[in-house]
Amino acid sequence: MNNLAIYTKELTRLYKTRALRKKERVVQALAGVDLTVNRGELFGLLGPNGAGKTTLIKILTTLLSPTSGEAFVLGLDVMRDYRRIRPLINMVAGGEYTGYGLLTVRENLWMFGQFYGLDLKTTLNRIDELLRVVNLSDKANTKISNLSTGMRQKMNFVRGFLTDPQVIFLDEPTLGLDVGAARDVRRHIKDWTHQSGKTTLLTTHYMAEADELCDRVAIIDKGSVLACDSPAALKHQYQQGAIFDIRLSGQPSPSELDHIKETQGVKSLTSALQDGQTELRITLDQESAIGPVVSSLTANDVSILKLSKCEPTLEDVFVGLVGRGLGDEGEDRDGNEE
Ligand SMILES: Nc1ncnc2c1ncn2[C@@H]1O[C@H](COP(=O)(O)OP(=O)(O)OP(=O)(O)O)[C@@H](O)[C@H]1O
Ligand SMILES: [Mg+2]
Repeated sequence: MNNLAIYTKELTRLYKTRALRKKERVVQALAGVDLTVNRGELFGLLGPNGAGKTTLIKILTTLLSPTSGEAFVLGLDVMRDYRRIRPLINMVAGGEYTGYGLLTVRENLWMFGQFYGLDLKTTLNRIDELLRVVNLSDKANTKISNLSTGMRQKMNFVRGFLTDPQVIFLDEPTLGLDVGAARDVRRHIKDWTHQSGKTTLLTTHYMAEADELCDRVAIIDKGSVLACDSPAALKHQYQQGAIFDIRLSGQPSPSELDHIKETQGVKSLTSALQDGQTELRITLDQESAIGPVVSSLTANDVSILKLSKCEPTLEDVFVGLVGRGLGDEGEDRDGNEE
């Protein structure tokens, strides 16, 4: 266990809440999570809202106690050895509001460096270097109360890497960043982890982000890990049959779509209307089932503009495991009546 960056065994966390004049409710945010993350790994937790990702990160960063089970970071127990863990790790959460508004970006970052006992020269060098990474150098002397949301997020990102931690926890690191900034941040996460041999655990809703960045991904839903492997292995393992994207002129009627869904060999079908054209994504038991689908489509009053076979994405893996898309609402786990 000492050679692992993160190890959890049957980790469980319940939250008890009581609204005014209502019975106490218990939410199971983590339901027996077993996880191992190797040192030097870039590991992703992928799951919908409320899956338990932040709860897991809070326990691993010693901010929250587990209800039961075990959790170790760098071989240290999060409950017993939290004082030894804290100097070795750092955490950035998307949308967090840290720092003093009256201090400038550089002053705030220097202050955080002081909390970790960094020497002045190292601190200032790293601040300059990291501000360049996120393209924020021109705001170094701006008070942080005058930053936009995205700029603040960039500063938080710098704060996380400033201490060059052994393990960094990033809870939705690209939240609120524009496309270019998100790309810079992703590139830095990848380079830092792979060049330094240190460990990154990040959470994200973005399938493409998890796919592009992570050495391994745990798909988590309702407090449980449903699958854990490299993105390529996950896609391979859950690749059943064949997936086709079909673009149609016009819009098939609901009954026509139902008819296609019932065609032998069709496992699932999603459709979306875009610019007067229809995009279908069809999962088949086997590739040959595409023949009857094409026949029934062309028998109707639509023509096929494009038909392509696709590689499965992590989204397809997620739908296969959970039975719904990542963006779709799950059932309410805490019995909320509102
Ligand atoms: N402080 C709290 N008190 C009560 N319930 C909580 C608390 N924090 C989280 N929960 C509940 O625990 C469950 C897991 O929440 P968590 O924040 O860990 O999810 P998440 O995967 O980070 O979601 P998101 O993608 O929205 O950030 C949810 O049902 C949530 O309502
Ligand atoms: Mg969260």
